[in-house]
Amino acid sequence: MIVPGSSSQALASALATELNKPLAAVTYDQFPDGETLAAVPEFDGDRAIIVATTDTNDTWVELLQLQDAVIEAGATEVITVIPYMGYTRQDRAFKSGHPVSARAMARAISPTTDRVILINPHERSVADFFDGHVTICDAAPHLAESLPSGLSEPLFIAPDAGAIELATAVRDEYGTGSTDYFEKTRHSGTDVDMNITDTDVSTRDVVVVDDIIATGVTMSTAVGHLNDGGAARVYIGCIHPLLARGARTRLERAGIERVIGTDTIEREVSAVSVAPTVAAAIEAVDIETR
Ligand code: R5P
Repeated sequence: MIVPGSSSQALASALATELNKPLAAVTYDQFPDGETLAAVPEFDGDRAIIVATTDTNDTWVELLQLQDAVIEAGATEVITVIPYMGYTRQDRAFKSGHPVSARAMARAISPTTDRVILINPHERSVADFFDGHVTICDAAPHLAESLPSGLSEPLFIAPDAGAIELATAVRDEYGTGSTDYFEKTRHSGTDVDMNITDTDVSTRDVVVVDDIIATGVTMSTAVGHLNDGGAARVYIGCIHPLLARGARTRLERAGIERVIGTDTIEREVSAVSVAPTVAAAIEAVDIETR
């Protein structure tokens, strides 16, 4: 059975269709003191495929509860799909006394799952924090599907060096265009500097590609530079459209043509579904273990 977390209901449903598996009825409640209770009252399968984005502290707790609930209900195998794994940007102790939060989260969910599937985690090395088998899926090429055909001299650009592989993957799938990246220095959560690239963007269509849009400061800074350089249209694509803290407005004000995101986080911009990518990963695991 496919078991949806509260923030991944559309994706879980799409995955159920892809895999032709039943979708479990899940209840999500909250007690007056703030504690959550996610339950699977009618779980009747032997394998549970939990699909739960953990973009908030409550959804992390919910995932732990769903894992425990399906085991309690008799699941013999648990696959945990975390479309967007929160806390992955805290992948090391940045200051003395800080936790490695991504590791703490991975350790919490490892004992109650047989396998984990992640979609474009911020760093691939997060997989090492889990005890069991981890599959990492790349949804970046699918962002190209939502771009219009016939972009003018397209440039696929990453807002920092770390995202150049994503920009290249989208370009490769789109089939034409060049790639580049900005040099980015982050001073705080909402203060980033970017060096303008030497690439001439004048009258060109530009696609900026990143893994996450959180506050939108990174993307809007990039978009500002591109518009100052005379770009024709600027599209932005991301795997995880977190879009926190007024990000959507910030992006519009920067002068974008369109935001394209995936349904790892379900937002109005989530035009691309990762369901086929996750289904293929599960089927590959099944073939491997047969
Ligand atoms: C950072 O390295 C990430 O790849 C993203 O660029 C970053 O998380 C985006 O954050 P924000 O939208 O808050 O600038």
